[in-house]
Amino acid sequence: MPKAHREQWSSRTGFLLAAIGSAVGLGNIWRFPYVTYENGGGAFILPYLIALLTAGIPLLILEYTIGHRFRASPPVALRRLSKPAEAIGWWQVAICFVVAIYYAVILAWALRYAVFSVTEEWGDDPDGFFSGAFLQSADGPGAITSYNAGVLIPLVLVWVAVLVMIALGVKRGIELANRIFMPMLLLLFGALVIRALFLDGATDGLDALFTPDWEALTDGSVWVAAYGQIFFSLSIGFGIMITYASYLRRKFDLTGSVMVVAFSNCSFELLAGMGVFAALGFMAVQSGLPIDEVVASGPGLAFVAFPQIISTLPFGGGLFGVLFFTSLLIAGITSLISIVQVLVSAVQDRAGMGRVPATLTVGGATALVSIALFPTDQGLFILDVVDRFINNYGIALAALVMLVVVAWVLRKLPEQRRHSDRISSIPLRGWWSVFLGFITPVILGWMMFDSLYSELTERYAGYPQWFLNAAGWGVAGGALAVGVVIALVLRNKDVGTVEDDLAREGAAAATGTTGAAAAEGKEEN
Ligand code: ALA
Repeated sequence: MPKAHREQWSSRTGFLLAAIGSAVGLGNIWRFPYVTYENGGGAFILPYLIALLTAGIPLLILEYTIGHRFRASPPVALRRLSKPAEAIGWWQVAICFVVAIYYAVILAWALRYAVFSVTEEWGDDPDGFFSGAFLQSADGPGAITSYNAGVLIPLVLVWVAVLVMIALGVKRGIELANRIFMPMLLLLFGALVIRALFLDGATDGLDALFTPDWEALTDGSVWVAAYGQIFFSLSIGFGIMITYASYLRRKFDLTGSVMVVAFSNCSFELLAGMGVFAALGFMAVQSGLPIDEVVASGPGLAFVAFPQIISTLPFGGGLFGVLFFTSLLIAGITSLISIVQVLVSAVQDRAGMGRVPATLTVGGATALVSIALFPTDQGLFILDVVDRFINNYGIALAALVMLVVVAWVLRKLPEQRRHSDRISSIPLRGWWSVFLGFITPVILGWMMFDSLYSELTERYAGYPQWFLNAAGWGVAGGALAVGVVIALVLRNKDVGTVEDDLAREGAAAATGTTGAAAAEGKEEN
C-alpha cells in the first residue's frame, strides 16, 4: 500500500538542479575526455551530438513521461503501463544496486585523494602508489585475502552522507543537497578549468582533443562509443529519471525541462573535456612525451595522471588537486544519491514502507555489500569488470528492452506523447516516435551486437574467464534474473492506479492529514 501522499520537489528549479546533478557525474569528468580522444577527437563531437539528438533526448523524454504520468518508481510505473513490464522496472532497480556499490567506491577514492593532494602523498610514483600503497591490490583476480582501512573509512563516510541525504526526503534532503552542491561544483570546477587553460601546453592538449580526425567517422565503433557515452552521461536506462519525474506536480513542462537538463549536462561535459585536456597538454610538455602517452582511461586518468600533473605544477599543486578531487566527489555524490533513490523509492512504493525505514533497509544493505567487497585486494578488478558488463549488458540492454516493449509490443508511444503534449512547451510531433520506434532501437541493437561480438572474440582486459563469468556475466545476468523473479513474486499484488493515489491524497488533504495535495499547483520557481 503506498504512503498517504507522494513527496514533491519544491519548485522547477529544485527539480532541474537534482536532474542535472544526477546527469553530471563521473561520466562527465573522466569518461568523456578519454572517450572523445580515443574516438576521433574533434570529429567525435558530431556523432556525440547526433546521439544526443536521436537517442539521448528522445529517451530522456520517454523516461520523464513514464515517471510523471504514472507517478511512481520504475516497477510500479511500468506495471501501470502494462503488468508484465514490472519486470523491466525491477531489472532497472537491480542495475542501480550494482552501479551504486562500485560508484560509491570511486567517490571514496576521490575523498581520500582530495586529502592526499595537500601533501602529494603519492610521492614520485603515483601509479605504484595507487594500486600498491593505497589500494593494496592483489596481482590479479583471486580470493579476497586482505581488507584495507584506507578505503573503508572514506567509503563508510560516503555511504553515511548519501543515506542521510536520502532519508531526509525529496525536498529537505535530495533537493537541498543539489541546491548546495551544484553551484559549488560549478564554482570549483570552473576555477580548475580556468587554471588549467593558463598552463603551459594547454593549447596542445586542446588541439589534441578538438583536432578532428574525420576518418574516424567511418568507423562503426566511434558511433557506438558516442551513443554509449550519451547513455551513461545522461543516466538513461537506470530508471533514475522515471523516479525523479514521479515527484513532479501534475502540470509540468516536461520537454522544456529535458532540454535544459540535456544541454546543461553536455555543456558541463565539454567544459570537463577542455579542463582535463588542457592539464594533459601541460603534462605532455613537461614530460616531453607525446600527448597520447599521457592520456589514460578510467581510474588511471583521475588517480594516476592527475596526481602526476599536481606534482609537476610549479605552484598551487595542492589546491589544484583539492579542486579536482572535490569536484569529482561532488559531481559523483549527486549522481549516487539519484541511483540509490531508485532503490529506496521502489521499496517505498511496493512495500508501503516509510522513507526512513526504506533507506535504512535497502540503502543500508546496498552500503554493506559495497563495504564488504570493495575495500579489499580484489576491489579494483571487481570494479573494472562489473562496471564494463553492467554498462553494456545492464543499462544499455535494459533501455533497449524497455524501448522495444513500449514502442513495439505495447504500442504505447502515442499515449505517452499525448501526455507530454498536454502539459509541455515543446510538442513532440512525429519525430519523437520515429526516433524511438526505429532509429534508437536499431542503433542500440547494433551497439549490443558490436560489444557482444568483441566480448566473445576476446577476453576483456585479459582477465581469466572464470572471473569474467562471475563478476561480468554473472552480475549482469543476475540483475536481469532478480528483476524477473521479483516481478513474478509480486504478480498478484495490485498497485492501483494514479487516480486512486490522487483521490486518496485529496481526501487526506481535505481532512488535514497532509498538505501535499493542497500544495499541487502552488509551485514557485
Ligand atoms: N550520469 C552519471 C555519470 O555521468 C551516472 O556519472
